[in-house]
Amino acid sequence: MGASGGTLPEPQVQAMFDRIAGVYDRMNSVMTVGMHHRWRERAADLAALKPGNRALDVATGTGDLAVELATRVAPDGEVVGSDFSERMLELARQKAPELRFEHGNALDLPYDDGEFDAATVGFGARNFSDLPAGLREMTRVVRPGGRVVILEITTPERPPLSWFFRLWFDRLVPLLGRLAGDPDAYSYLPSSVRRFPNARGLGAAMTAVGLMDVRWVITAGGIIAIHAGTVDAE
Ligand SMILES: C[S@@+](CC[C@H](N)C(=O)[O-])C[C@H]1O[C@@H](n2cnc3c(N)ncnc32)[C@H](O)[C@@H]1O
Repeated sequence: MGASGGTLPEPQVQAMFDRIAGVYDRMNSVMTVGMHHRWRERAADLAALKPGNRALDVATGTGDLAVELATRVAPDGEVVGSDFSERMLELARQKAPELRFEHGNALDLPYDDGEFDAATVGFGARNFSDLPAGLREMTRVVRPGGRVVILEITTPERPPLSWFFRLWFDRLVPLLGRLAGDPDAYSYLPSSVRRFPNARGLGAAMTAVGLMDVRWVITAGGIIAIHAGTVDAE
Protein backbone atom coordinates (compact mmCIF):
# COMPACT_ATOMS: atom_id res chain seq x y z
CA MET A 1 0.00 0.00 0.00
CA GLY A 2 1.25 3.51 -0.71
CA ALA A 3 1.57 6.50 1.59
CA SER A 4 -2.06 7.49 1.04
CA GLY A 5 -3.14 4.15 2.56
CA GLY A 6 -1.20 5.00 5.73
CA THR A 7 1.17 2.04 5.58
CA LEU A 8 4.65 1.97 4.11
CA PRO A 9 7.32 -0.72 4.03
CA GLU A 10 9.83 -0.33 6.90
CA PRO A 11 12.77 0.93 4.81
CA GLN A 12 10.53 3.70 3.47
CA VAL A 13 9.37 4.70 6.97
CA GLN A 14 12.99 4.80 8.10
CA ALA A 15 14.05 6.86 5.07
CA MET A 16 11.14 9.24 5.57
CA PHE A 17 12.08 9.93 9.21
CA ASP A 18 15.74 10.36 8.27
CA ARG A 19 14.57 12.94 5.74
CA ILE A 20 12.26 14.95 8.02
CA ALA A 21 14.45 14.76 11.16
CA GLY A 22 15.77 18.30 10.68
CA VAL A 23 12.30 19.89 10.67
CA TYR A 24 10.62 17.38 13.02
CA ASP A 25 10.78 19.35 16.29
CA ARG A 26 9.68 22.59 14.66
CA MET A 27 6.78 20.87 12.87
CA ASN A 28 5.68 19.29 16.17
CA SER A 29 5.60 22.65 17.90
CA VAL A 30 3.68 24.30 15.05
CA MET A 31 1.19 21.45 14.54
CA THR A 32 0.41 21.07 18.26
CA VAL A 33 0.82 24.75 19.18
CA GLY A 34 3.41 23.62 21.71
CA MET A 35 0.98 21.34 23.55
CA HIS A 36 2.96 18.15 22.91
CA HIS A 37 5.16 18.79 25.98
CA ARG A 38 2.12 18.58 28.24
CA TRP A 39 1.01 15.30 26.60
CA ARG A 40 4.49 13.83 27.11
CA GLU A 41 4.34 14.80 30.81
CA ARG A 42 1.06 12.92 31.17
CA ALA A 43 2.47 9.88 29.38
CA ALA A 44 5.53 9.94 31.65
CA ASP A 45 3.23 10.13 34.70
CA LEU A 46 1.43 6.99 33.54
CA ALA A 47 4.75 5.12 33.28
CA ALA A 48 4.77 5.29 37.13
CA LEU A 49 8.56 5.46 37.34
CA LYS A 50 10.57 6.05 40.49
CA PRO A 51 14.04 7.47 41.06
CA GLY A 52 16.61 4.81 40.22
CA ASN A 53 14.37 3.01 37.68
CA ARG A 54 15.33 2.08 34.10
CA ALA A 55 13.01 3.11 31.29
CA LEU A 56 12.96 2.47 27.55
CA ASP A 57 11.47 4.93 25.06
CA VAL A 58 10.78 3.05 21.81
CA ALA A 59 10.71 4.94 18.47
CA THR A 60 12.19 7.82 20.46
CA GLY A 61 12.80 10.11 17.47
CA THR A 62 14.49 13.31 18.66
CA GLY A 63 14.11 12.10 22.26
CA ASP A 64 11.53 14.45 23.83
CA LEU A 65 9.64 11.70 25.67
CA ALA A 66 12.94 10.11 26.80
CA VAL A 67 13.96 13.49 28.25
CA GLU A 68 10.66 13.67 30.13
CA LEU A 69 11.13 10.13 31.50
CA ALA A 70 14.62 11.05 32.68
CA THR A 71 13.16 13.62 35.09
CA ARG A 72 11.25 10.75 36.78
CA VAL A 73 14.18 8.35 37.28
CA ALA A 74 16.78 10.96 38.34
CA PRO A 75 19.24 11.10 39.97
CA ASP A 76 20.54 7.56 39.56
CA GLY A 77 18.15 5.91 37.09
CA GLU A 78 18.66 5.37 33.37
CA VAL A 79 16.66 6.08 30.23
CA VAL A 80 17.40 4.41 26.91
CA GLY A 81 15.92 5.84 23.71
CA SER A 82 15.69 3.47 20.76
CA ASP A 83 14.90 4.23 17.11
CA PHE A 84 15.77 2.92 13.65
CA SER A 85 16.37 6.38 12.13
CA GLU A 86 20.04 7.33 12.60
CA ARG A 87 19.33 10.95 11.75
CA MET A 88 16.66 11.20 14.49
CA LEU A 89 19.07 9.53 16.95
CA GLU A 90 21.83 12.05 16.11
CA LEU A 91 19.49 14.92 17.00
CA ALA A 92 18.38 13.16 20.20
CA ARG A 93 22.02 12.72 21.25
CA GLN A 94 22.68 16.43 20.64
CA LYS A 95 19.58 17.34 22.67
CA ALA A 96 20.31 15.08 25.64
CA PRO A 97 23.91 13.82 25.64
CA GLU A 98 23.42 12.41 29.15
CA LEU A 99 20.88 9.82 27.93
CA ARG A 100 21.57 6.63 25.95
CA PHE A 101 20.23 6.67 22.39
CA GLU A 102 20.61 3.41 20.49
CA HIS A 103 19.71 2.02 17.12
CA GLY A 104 16.95 -0.60 17.29
CA ASN A 105 13.85 -1.87 15.53
CA ALA A 106 10.73 -1.71 17.70
CA LEU A 107 9.56 -5.03 16.27
CA ASP A 108 12.73 -6.82 17.39
CA LEU A 109 14.13 -4.91 20.35
CA PRO A 110 17.77 -5.66 21.20
CA TYR A 111 17.06 -5.99 24.96
CA ASP A 112 16.60 -8.83 27.42
CA ASP A 113 13.28 -9.88 28.91
CA GLY A 114 12.22 -7.74 31.86
CA GLU A 115 15.21 -5.35 31.60
CA PHE A 116 13.17 -2.18 32.14
CA ASP A 117 10.72 -0.83 34.71
CA ALA A 118 8.63 0.75 31.94
CA ALA A 119 8.54 1.11 28.16
CA THR A 120 6.91 4.02 26.35
CA VAL A 121 6.26 5.01 22.76
CA GLY A 122 5.21 8.49 21.66
CA PHE A 123 3.65 8.99 18.21
CA GLY A 124 5.51 5.90 17.01
CA ALA A 125 3.12 2.95 17.37
CA ARG A 126 1.08 4.07 14.37
CA ASN A 127 4.17 3.60 12.21
CA PHE A 128 4.77 -0.01 13.28
CA SER A 129 4.27 -2.29 10.29
CA ASP A 130 3.02 -4.95 12.75
CA LEU A 131 1.32 -3.35 15.78
CA PRO A 132 0.84 -6.57 17.84
CA ALA A 133 4.53 -7.45 17.31
CA GLY A 134 5.59 -3.99 18.56
CA LEU A 135 3.30 -4.27 21.59
CA ARG A 136 4.62 -7.78 22.36
CA GLU A 137 8.21 -6.52 22.24
CA MET A 138 7.52 -3.59 24.58
CA THR A 139 5.76 -5.96 26.98
CA ARG A 140 8.59 -8.51 26.82
CA VAL A 141 11.34 -6.07 27.86
CA VAL A 142 9.41 -4.74 30.90
CA ARG A 143 9.59 -6.52 34.27
CA PRO A 144 6.42 -7.98 35.80
CA GLY A 145 4.44 -5.17 37.41
CA GLY A 146 6.01 -2.50 35.17
CA ARG A 147 4.10 -0.30 32.72
CA VAL A 148 3.78 -0.07 28.95
CA VAL A 149 2.58 3.38 27.83
CA ILE A 150 1.45 4.52 24.39
CA LEU A 151 0.96 8.18 23.48
CA GLU A 152 -0.74 8.53 20.12
CA ILE A 153 -2.95 10.69 17.97
CA THR A 154 -6.50 9.43 17.82
CA THR A 155 -9.46 10.40 15.68
CA PRO A 156 -12.26 12.26 17.47
CA GLU A 157 -15.48 10.46 16.75
CA ARG A 158 -18.06 13.18 17.38
CA PRO A 159 -18.74 16.54 15.69
CA PRO A 160 -17.81 19.35 15.88
CA LEU A 161 -14.30 18.14 16.82
CA SER A 162 -14.31 15.45 14.16
CA TRP A 163 -14.93 18.17 11.53
CA PHE A 164 -12.22 20.41 12.90
CA PHE A 165 -9.82 17.44 13.08
CA ARG A 166 -10.49 16.54 9.45
CA LEU A 167 -9.85 20.11 8.36
CA TRP A 168 -6.65 20.33 10.44
CA PHE A 169 -5.28 16.94 9.53
CA ASP A 170 -6.41 16.41 5.97
CA ARG A 171 -5.85 19.98 4.77
CA LEU A 172 -3.58 22.02 7.03
CA VAL A 173 -1.01 19.35 7.98
CA PRO A 174 -0.29 18.38 4.34
CA LEU A 175 -0.07 22.11 3.50
CA LEU A 176 2.45 22.64 6.32
CA GLY A 177 4.33 19.61 4.97
CA ARG A 178 4.51 21.21 1.53
CA LEU A 179 5.82 24.42 3.10
CA ALA A 180 8.39 22.39 5.08
CA GLY A 181 9.51 20.76 1.83
CA ASP A 182 8.22 17.22 2.42
CA PRO A 183 4.65 16.84 1.15
CA ASP A 184 4.80 13.00 1.14
CA ALA A 185 5.72 12.68 4.81
CA TYR A 186 2.99 15.03 5.93
CA SER A 187 0.29 13.40 3.84
CA TYR A 188 1.40 10.02 5.23
CA LEU A 189 0.79 11.40 8.74
CA PRO A 190 -3.02 11.84 8.49
CA SER A 191 -3.46 8.57 6.61
CA SER A 192 -1.42 6.67 9.20
CA VAL A 193 -3.66 8.12 11.93
CA ARG A 194 -6.79 7.13 10.01
CA ARG A 195 -5.79 3.49 9.70
CA PHE A 196 -4.67 3.20 13.36
CA PRO A 197 -7.17 1.58 15.77
CA ASN A 198 -9.38 3.88 17.84
CA ALA A 199 -8.79 4.13 21.60
CA ARG A 200 -10.93 1.11 22.39
CA GLY A 201 -9.28 -0.94 19.64
CA LEU A 202 -5.78 -0.07 20.83
CA GLY A 203 -6.81 -0.98 24.39
CA ALA A 204 -8.01 -4.36 23.11
CA ALA A 205 -4.73 -4.88 21.21
CA MET A 206 -2.77 -4.21 24.42
CA THR A 207 -4.92 -6.66 26.37
CA ALA A 208 -4.46 -9.23 23.58
CA VAL A 209 -0.67 -9.22 24.09
CA GLY A 210 -1.18 -9.98 27.80
CA LEU A 211 -1.08 -6.52 29.38
CA MET A 212 -3.27 -6.19 32.48
CA ASP A 213 -5.40 -3.36 33.77
CA VAL A 214 -5.30 -1.49 30.45
CA ARG A 215 -6.65 2.07 30.75
CA TRP A 216 -6.50 5.21 28.68
CA VAL A 217 -7.12 8.91 28.87
CA ILE A 218 -8.29 11.00 25.97
CA THR A 219 -7.12 14.59 26.02
CA ALA A 220 -6.66 17.69 23.82
CA GLY A 221 -10.35 17.71 22.90
CA GLY A 222 -10.30 14.09 21.75
CA ILE A 223 -7.26 14.05 19.47
CA ILE A 224 -4.73 12.49 21.86
CA ALA A 225 -4.99 9.11 23.57
CA ILE A 226 -2.58 7.93 26.26
CA HIS A 227 -2.87 4.22 27.02
CA ALA A 228 -1.18 2.34 29.86
CA GLY A 229 -1.10 -1.34 30.79
CA THR A 230 0.75 -3.36 33.41
CA VAL A 231 2.92 -6.38 32.68
CA ASP A 232 1.44 -9.45 34.32
CA ALA A 233 3.11 -10.11 37.66
CA GLU A 234 2.52 -13.92 37.48
C1 LIG B 1 6.48 10.50 14.59
S1 LIG B 1 8.09 10.06 15.17
C2 LIG B 1 7.92 10.12 16.93
C3 LIG B 1 9.20 10.46 17.64
C4 LIG B 1 9.11 10.66 19.14
N1 LIG B 1 8.78 9.45 19.83
C5 LIG B 1 8.17 11.76 19.54
O1 LIG B 1 7.39 11.54 20.46
O2 LIG B 1 8.23 12.85 18.97
C6 LIG B 1 8.13 8.33 14.87
C7 LIG B 1 9.47 7.70 15.12
O3 LIG B 1 9.30 6.30 15.11
C8 LIG B 1 10.42 5.72 14.50
N2 LIG B 1 10.02 4.37 14.09
C9 LIG B 1 8.96 4.02 13.33
N3 LIG B 1 8.89 2.69 13.20
C10 LIG B 1 9.93 2.18 13.91
C11 LIG B 1 10.41 0.87 14.13
N4 LIG B 1 9.79 -0.20 13.61
N5 LIG B 1 11.51 0.72 14.90
C12 LIG B 1 12.15 1.80 15.42
N6 LIG B 1 11.76 3.06 15.22
C13 LIG B 1 10.66 3.26 14.47
C14 LIG B 1 10.78 6.67 13.38
O4 LIG B 1 12.11 6.53 12.94
C15 LIG B 1 10.51 8.02 14.06
O5 LIG B 1 11.69 8.52 14.67
